[in-house]
Amino acid sequence: MAVLMDNELWLICVIFLLCTRIRAIRIIGQDVTVAAGDDAHLFCQLVETTEPLTSITWQRRTEEKPTNTDFFAITSDGKERHTNGLRDRVKFTGNISGLNGSILLSSVTISDEGIYTCIISVFPSGPYETEIRLTVLVPPVVTVSTDVPPVAGDAEEILATCTAANAKPAAKVLWSLGALSDSVKVQSNVTVDSEGRSTVNSSLIGVASKDLNQKKAQCLVTHPGLKGKLELNYTLIIHYPPEVVYVISAGDQGKALEFQCEADANPKPTDFIWSRHFPVKEPLSRGANSRQIIQLIPDSNGLYYCVVSNQYGKAVGSLYVHVTYTESTACWTLFIIALFAGVCGFLIWKFNLHQHITKRLCIISRDPVPTVSSDQGEES
Ligand SMILES: *[C@@H]1O[C@H](CO)[C@@H](O)[C@H](O)[C@H]1NC(C)=O
Ligand SMILES: *[C@@H]1O[C@H](CO)[C@@H](O)[C@H](O)[C@H]1NC(C)=O
Ligand SMILES: *[C@@H]1O[C@H](CO)[C@@H](O)[C@H](O)[C@H]1NC(C)=O
Repeated sequence: MAVLMDNELWLICVIFLLCTRIRAIRIIGQDVTVAAGDDAHLFCQLVETTEPLTSITWQRRTEEKPTNTDFFAITSDGKERHTNGLRDRVKFTGNISGLNGSILLSSVTISDEGIYTCIISVFPSGPYETEIRLTVLVPPVVTVSTDVPPVAGDAEEILATCTAANAKPAAKVLWSLGALSDSVKVQSNVTVDSEGRSTVNSSLIGVASKDLNQKKAQCLVTHPGLKGKLELNYTLIIHYPPEVVYVISAGDQGKALEFQCEADANPKPTDFIWSRHFPVKEPLSRGANSRQIIQLIPDSNGLYYCVVSNQYGKAVGSLYVHVTYTESTACWTLFIIALFAGVCGFLIWKFNLHQHITKRLCIISRDPVPTVSSDQGEES
């Protein structure tokens, strides 16, 4: 009985010693995550031993080469061996006598991602190894744009798209819409390429209208590879045909007045036609020039039309000129009435008393609107 006890005790002692010995020498390493382009510190060290070093070897397996391949080794006398193409990108940063096998892998790319094995051999115990996972983050390339400018209409369309491209892992894309949140909605999709990089498209969808032109939205992108949150301001661009045409006074040349035709349109109108008839015949001028000079003579009396167009449509404004002479001399009065009309396949006419100028002996004064009821009959 006592002998058995002794034997058992002895066995436990041996197991205990073995265990502490196995637990004693160990290799430590830690997984590392870096952004593409940065340097990766691959840390590895053998601890709890004073045995001398034989060699340190590094291997890796990646998506491209899924079997363990040596790429770096160093022997106890400090002789380095670089293989399999990493060469100058690997720098030994450890310490041979300290059994520190750490290396620095510079300018990391997505293809460096994988499992790295650090093998430290000592005499007489032999090799100890540990695996380190290198994760490479690829920050997104972020843009906000519209492929084709949305044109005012009735159907829903894409108003803007925020793209966070070629990121790993996929970026988070959000919109800060403010007052726009009632009129637009957000739709997102993600695509992944063969190298595992994700592209997130987040689009603002809504019915394009003139009111949305120049409204501001903000695309917010977050990604672990980015230092902070990316905020991209975007101003919506909506194209629309000319809607309201204004005829304004553009200069006084004594015996003549110059008028300019302006319209609310996007893009800005490129074609202006001035005529005394509508529909236009015998145009007084046509082209990119929006101005028209009118002589202050009785023959000039009557209506003038300005037809404005961009690639989406046209609209017309008008000017009523009435030059009167008082019994004495050239004291005359000029009335201007501007019309506006939208063109959507057919013309919609509306009268709008826009501006009134009274000129008396070359003094321009802007009076309150006079009675011009007789002019309202011009609608055709
Ligand atoms: C091992 O080497 C690395 C790289 O030089 C260093 O950062 C680390 O502190 C070293 N480990 C110890 C325990 O000294
Ligand atoms: C993803 O969104 C983009 C932009 O909104 C769009 O052009 C593309 O067709 C969408 N792809 C899919 C698969 O829905
Ligand atoms: C973006 O817009 C916000 C508010 O709309 C403003 O505070 C910020 O300064 C803008 N950022 C840039 C870069 O223009």
